Amino acid sequence: MNRNTIYDLFLKPLFFRLSPENAHNFSHGLLELGDKIPFFFPTLQALTTFTSSRLESIVCGINFKNPLGMAAGFDKTGELYPYLSRLGFGHVEIGTVTGEAQEGNPKPRLFRYPNSHALINRMGFNNPGSEQMAINLQSQKKSVVRGINAGKTKLVNIEDSAKDYAKSFRLLQKYSDYGVINISSPNTPGLRSLQTRETYRKLINDIKSELGEDFSVPIFVKFAPDLSEKELLENLDETLELKLSGVILTNTTLDKTSLGIDKPEEGGLSGRPLKEKANHFTKIAFQHLKGKIPIIGVGGIESGQDALERIQSGANLVQIYTGYIYKGPFLPFDICKTIDDYLLKNKKSSISEIVGERA
Ligand SMILES: Cc1cc2nc3c(=O)[nH]c(=O)nc-3n(C[C@H](O)[C@H](O)[C@H](O)COP(=O)(O)O)c2cc1C
Repeated sequence: MNRNTIYDLFLKPLFFRLSPENAHNFSHGLLELGDKIPFFFPTLQALTTFTSSRLESIVCGINFKNPLGMAAGFDKTGELYPYLSRLGFGHVEIGTVTGEAQEGNPKPRLFRYPNSHALINRMGFNNPGSEQMAINLQSQKKSVVRGINAGKTKLVNIEDSAKDYAKSFRLLQKYSDYGVINISSPNTPGLRSLQTRETYRKLINDIKSELGEDFSVPIFVKFAPDLSEKELLENLDETLELKLSGVILTNTTLDKTSLGIDKPEEGGLSGRPLKEKANHFTKIAFQHLKGKIPIIGVGGIESGQDALERIQSGANLVQIYTGYIYKGPFLPFDICKTIDDYLLKNKKSSISEIVGERA
């Protein structure tokens, strides 16, 4: 019996009997419990982690042990980082955190579509707020790269967004290797309007003047897959002019036609139906940016081949969320091994040699 069968036969049916959010909380509990059992975590770590010097890379001056990260939204409080950082990921992106604590939308707000390997969520940035997150992170040991993804508090007016983002970055920069400005979640009213070119420029300039000189980590910006290609390219030009460090493509989509069902839930769609669009955005972004700034590719990655394809489309790093729910905890091992096998077979010594090779 291989590792994936153990997940498919035993753990997944158990998790999928629970509501998605309860399953998430239950797995958090299991990880906490497991950490108290001698040898449990070292064994799990050995089974989920694939190590190879070929997978290492330096992006924005940061050393990544491998190109795979856990995408934002899985660890909204920072409390899962100590576990996720031992489960095969080269980086973990925490958040979205907002300036102030908020409960998010009423439950249920997360839905599975197993036939499509998809999720729809309308969580609405439920998170403990940046002050509490700083407390959660302050005593943790940082073993893999940690990104902090920041968004806007729902009750803060859109015109005052910059102050809210800056508050989170100011409080959390000492615990992070990179920051993310999230302007692409569909569940905070008005947030995506920050992606229009002029508003985007103003937001970033305002955040920069709020932060002044005292901000030192690289900042990425995360865009939606629902932008037109023209809007995406305009925003990429703006991102270069604003001297941000990189882009994350993409967040969830509001286009649910590919689910092929009558009344999908409200919220953002992630997983397999997003793969093609997110891959296409990575490709056109890479062609446009020509390697001037890095791309983190996310959306619908659920196998080693998907991750490899995303890197060949132009992503320097990749992330997963929904694929992890459907494929389970050994997916990071499988993804890293597939990429390493490809590098070995093609006599490449590092990831950077294949970034964008099929763009
Ligand atoms: C339940 C859930 C919550 C999410 N929350 C956030 C979030 O808080 N901030 C963010 O930038 N992205 C969030 N995302 C989007 C993911 O980071 C990712 O961009 C998207 O799901 C596409 O990747 P996937 O197809 O591998 O899931 C969330 C996704 C899901 C499924």
